[in-house]
Amino acid sequence: MTEKKATLKVDGHEALELSVYTPTLGQEVVDVSPLAAKGLFTFDPGFQSTASCDSTITYIDGGKGQLLHRGYSIEELASKSDYMEVCYALLNGELPNAEQKAEFVQEIKARAEVPEQLKAVFNGFTRDAHPMGVLLGALGALSTYHHEGLDINNAEHRKEVALNLVAKLPTLSAMCYKHSIGEDFVAPNAELSHAENFLTMLFGGTNSEYQVSPVVAQAMDRIFILHADHEQNASTSTVRMAGSSGANPYAAIAAGVATLWGPAHGGANEAVLKMLDEIGDVSNIDKFIAKAKDRNDPFKLMGFGHRVYKNYDPRASVMRESCHQVLGELGIQDPKLELAMKLEEIALNDEYFVERKLFPNVDFYSGIVLKALGIPVSMFTVIFALSRTVGWIAHWEELIGNPYRIARPRQLYTGSDERAFVEIDKR
Ligand code: CMC
Repeated sequence: MTEKKATLKVDGHEALELSVYTPTLGQEVVDVSPLAAKGLFTFDPGFQSTASCDSTITYIDGGKGQLLHRGYSIEELASKSDYMEVCYALLNGELPNAEQKAEFVQEIKARAEVPEQLKAVFNGFTRDAHPMGVLLGALGALSTYHHEGLDINNAEHRKEVALNLVAKLPTLSAMCYKHSIGEDFVAPNAELSHAENFLTMLFGGTNSEYQVSPVVAQAMDRIFILHADHEQNASTSTVRMAGSSGANPYAAIAAGVATLWGPAHGGANEAVLKMLDEIGDVSNIDKFIAKAKDRNDPFKLMGFGHRVYKNYDPRASVMRESCHQVLGELGIQDPKLELAMKLEEIALNDEYFVERKLFPNVDFYSGIVLKALGIPVSMFTVIFALSRTVGWIAHWEELIGNPYRIARPRQLYTGSDERAFVEIDKR
């Protein structure tokens, strides 16, 4: 990072010289950290202009529609690599060679089982409990198995945390689903690939002959890759913030799961399908587009818009291609896809969406692909969470493995000045 200078002049204060950092890619960053000592704070609700950390993991150019993990484009990773390689690169900084990959895959397989007693935790949830809530509970429970003796300042311990989480999240996620349908859990199978194993734990059963088709396994793996990381989004920032207090990393990941659940973030894939159901037919699209444009109506077009992408989300382009491939190869005629395509076409030509640079995001297509793979809608965000866990833990490692301070934002106080307490009988 080369250093330039910026001068800040605030009435009533001496002019301040601030450092300007030039990143390897992207916008220059003004270092405002000395302001507090000079009696000033910055104000940036929703963090639209704030870089909360420096990072080497993922780069997004929202204007270009570019997404890189460790410098590799998402398009190349999705077409030439697989999820295990992407996990390795996110955690270790480089793509693995064949030997490193084989070792990493073995390390993940060896940790896929969850503690026996943890299985009983699921009985505390009703069958209709949302699987994201159940996953949160299960992660909280998992933190208790890895608390005493866990030293987050020890790099070997942190490596073990990362491997454990990447390995156990598919198992816990599949257990959430099996619990919801009242079926026995299916144990992980080390003979299978990561995606095949997850699908088998989801759809297999002790007595069933479930076989994962290669098309389905490949599509699942691609979904894992496309959701693996996305720099400092709301859930990743939450994991970093929780981690900055020195919290148990399994609990910090649970905080990420809670943040991901919202419909403005990971919950959008579920919301897209619900919206397509609500729209029902191509003839109703205009009515819903009008609702989305109406400022007095809270309705938004789910799967459209992004804080960072002001161009087509590159993950959406890959997912769009996957969507056609999967539906074609599985011979599925989905009227929802036709509805989605028409909605996309109309929105992309509407002045409101064009002016605001609102393009389809990854969730617009992922829901349709997941549905084609037979995944129930309530599990969509769980699958996002299990894929994103590697990104969350890579960011947690980057934070804890380097000098850091507790995240403690300040505020612009707009409440009452100090006033005298009034006894209750005088109020
Ligand atoms: N439908 C209709 N209008 C929209 C939409 C939408 N989906 N998204 C943004 N706008 C409007 C917004 O009302 C505002 O209009 P105006 O300038 O007239 O006030 C303008 O576009 C700018 O939007 P914003 O609210 O400043 O955008 P933001 O950066 O705060 O929010 C967002 C980004 C993703 C939360 C939002 O676009 C949204 O809610 N989209 C729908 C939910 C969704 O698909 N989320 C998934 C995000 S991608 C997956 C992930 O990474 O989690």
